[in-house]
Amino acid sequence: MASVTSLTAQVHQRLANALSATLPETADADPLLRRSDRADYQANGILALAKKAKANPRELATQVVEKITAPDLFKDVEVSGPGFLNITVTDKAITETLAARAADGDRLGVPLKDNPGITIVDYAQPNVAKEMHVGHLRSAVIGDALRGMLDFTGEKTIGRHHIGDWGTQFGMLIQYLFEHPGELAPPEDVDGEQAMSNLNRVYKASRALFDSDEEFKERARKRVVALQSGDKETLELWQQFVDESKVYFYSVFEKLDMEIRDEEIVGESAYNEGMPETARLLEEMGVAVRSEGALVVFFDEIRGKDDQPVPLIVQKADGGFGYAASDLTAIRNRVFDLHATTLLYVVDVRQSLHFKMVFETARRAGWLSEHVTAHNMGYGTVLGADGKPFKTREGETVRLEDLLDEAVERATAVVREKAEKVGLTEEEIVENGRYVGIGAVKYADLSTSPNRDYKFDLDQMVSLNGDTSVYLQYAYARIKSILRKAEGAAPVAHPELELAPAERALGLHLDAFGDTVFDAAAEYAPHKLAAYLYQLASHLTTLYDQCPVLKADTSEQTENRLFLVDLTARTLHQGMALLGIRTPERL
Ligand code: ARG
Repeated sequence: MASVTSLTAQVHQRLANALSATLPETADADPLLRRSDRADYQANGILALAKKAKANPRELATQVVEKITAPDLFKDVEVSGPGFLNITVTDKAITETLAARAADGDRLGVPLKDNPGITIVDYAQPNVAKEMHVGHLRSAVIGDALRGMLDFTGEKTIGRHHIGDWGTQFGMLIQYLFEHPGELAPPEDVDGEQAMSNLNRVYKASRALFDSDEEFKERARKRVVALQSGDKETLELWQQFVDESKVYFYSVFEKLDMEIRDEEIVGESAYNEGMPETARLLEEMGVAVRSEGALVVFFDEIRGKDDQPVPLIVQKADGGFGYAASDLTAIRNRVFDLHATTLLYVVDVRQSLHFKMVFETARRAGWLSEHVTAHNMGYGTVLGADGKPFKTREGETVRLEDLLDEAVERATAVVREKAEKVGLTEEEIVENGRYVGIGAVKYADLSTSPNRDYKFDLDQMVSLNGDTSVYLQYAYARIKSILRKAEGAAPVAHPELELAPAERALGLHLDAFGDTVFDAAAEYAPHKLAAYLYQLASHLTTLYDQCPVLKADTSEQTENRLFLVDLTARTLHQGMALLGIRTPERL
């Protein structure tokens, strides 16, 4: 439990107590409390309870109100409509609860889970020897944010980057490298850009040979067999592709301002050794059956066009293993070796059928159960301004790097416009441009529900008005600037002061931070945290409009307002950090 009990939780508890004192037979009845425009909160739970107890709801509500005794907390509780309660809390309770939150360090009152588990997050999974494109963006951004949020609530997360580092396509590449040694540079000698350009060159040249030269094609096919049988020299060449690709991956992740750890890059190939065992176990248990030589799993409800069942192929008729076998083996590893309690996959929604079949197979095998669950956060597509899947003007997929570079460029221009007024150095302009540009890309992604498509529109993303990260970053920097200008005055909570409407609204919203983070993490819903932060910044804007901070009527009022905006800044900073977005001090 949290060390800080939110105001909402306090009100909830008092109401629940009053309810059970009025109706002793309904021990833990839910007052159904929510924030409301008319008062601070509204409770609707009495209606259903009255119905159950065959009582008049308004009378019951009146009895409940009589049982509420907490004058420090409740300013006013009023029965309204058919039996709702409109609840107003005292200003003192708001300020005191916020002061407790402010004293809670970086946690800011976010509760810790009672029974944290181990969640394996499968995200940011590019493919070896291939360029990363816009499709890889969402998995990385959403996965990273989910990890941040889950870790913060005490869950232990382990990352798995299930990179595509295996398959028949490597035969062609390796054979080419075998015939043209030295085409890939040692990883320590190249940067990300050079690494990718080497890989591209090798890919194009080998593809051209493969398509034009029958004999090369045959040698490439033999190379696949050598790779699969673990031939040492072949594996060494394969490793060169993996190493060169990693140099490139790291450079892109760095651009994304995202930390990726080497020990968590565990690609498809890592499960090769376990795949025969996976097949054997599934066949022995009768989960998988032989069909035309292949080992497959059937599902009643999964059928193709002609109503034929579509099976999951564990092992092909030629003995080869594919994508499904590697995922099934990965599940065994994650459940039995890593002791996962939750498997979370952040993968394009277009793979949802694959995961549905893989999860169901694992359930039948007993690898997944009510204690170990799997979940695919199938995310939607990134669309262009025209509403179609995002492509270049030439109709090609957009390189992730180009996209990020452009975002940073646009953002730097935005930052530069205001730089002189703020007094930023060139170095700060460049750094902020990066944080604003990358933040814009991440925020646009995270503020949309993951399962929906969204439009990649840089103009909108770096706009200073509206639901953008820049708006939030400016809100933060503006508070920081006020705090710097405050000189003698410091943020101090004054519970004895009356609050203006804008202060109350901001305060009540700040109170919801803990519950919001906790719920958004539990529901894998970063967009709920994003929406919360946007509302927080909007409340702040209203406060500035209505309540002078540094020029308030009394010095106590200034201190109290500084306290409110300081807590807002800390909340913005922490919330954005959980989403993987930076908040520059001066902007
Ligand atoms: N590398 C794959 C792709 O680009 C995604 C891997 C997803 N994760 C998994 N466990 N299958 O399509």
